[in-house]
Amino acid sequence: MKVNTNRVKLLISAVHKTQYPNTSMPEIALVGRSNVGKSSMINKVLNRKSLARVSGTPGKTVTINFYDVDNQLMLVDLPGYGYAARSKGEVESWGKMINDYLEGRPQLCQVVQLVDSRHKPSKEDVAMQEWIQEYCAYSVVFATKSDKLSKKQLAESLDLIADTLSLRDGDVLIPFSVKDNESVTNFWDYVEGCVLDDEEEPEV
Ligand code: GTP
Ligand code: MG
Repeated sequence: MKVNTNRVKLLISAVHKTQYPNTSMPEIALVGRSNVGKSSMINKVLNRKSLARVSGTPGKTVTINFYDVDNQLMLVDLPGYGYAARSKGEVESWGKMINDYLEGRPQLCQVVQLVDSRHKPSKEDVAMQEWIQEYCAYSVVFATKSDKLSKKQLAESLDLIADTLSLRDGDVLIPFSVKDNESVTNFWDYVEGCVLDDEEEPEV
């Protein structure tokens, strides 16, 4: 499968499940802490400057954004978790919004986790990874902002991330940077792989 990233549209920014688009194409959802680079990744892999809104201030994405890529797959940008400046009520409604999507969307075929390559994954990152390991055949994790580290630092950091998230044989952990075009190739290689794996599952 080769998707044409020139044919992309934001279908809807949803806050409630009744607003999810009525489509059947496979969905890949991006999850991670606020400010980890989810929206930046969407722009980079779709070769757009500002399709998804990016900000240095955490908490920029507050809706579930469905991007239809070439009518072949949907990239779904979720609001980030772990944004300390939110009130308790806000944190709860955010949690519910993300849970409703993750647990109630049959089209979802892979949850891709983003963690910051410079930091040890947080408790919430670990909890998210546990959820992924329960629901997905394997994990795909991108270590973002890898341009900010030297090669040696990055190698050490990847070890720490794999260890902290308890990644297993067959799980995938790859550096990602908006400043590096190889990241785009890696992204599509793995993401298209997820969609194909899903399609190739034998029917029962
Ligand atoms: P929320 O919408 O709050 O959940 O955040 P997000 O995960 O969508 O993060 P966003 O893409 O808005 O990026 C947050 C900040 O990190 C912005 O200032 C980006 O420019 C910066 N950033 C994202 N990716 C990279 C990267 O690969 N390298 C560098 N150096 N900066 C990055
Ligand atoms: Mg965002």
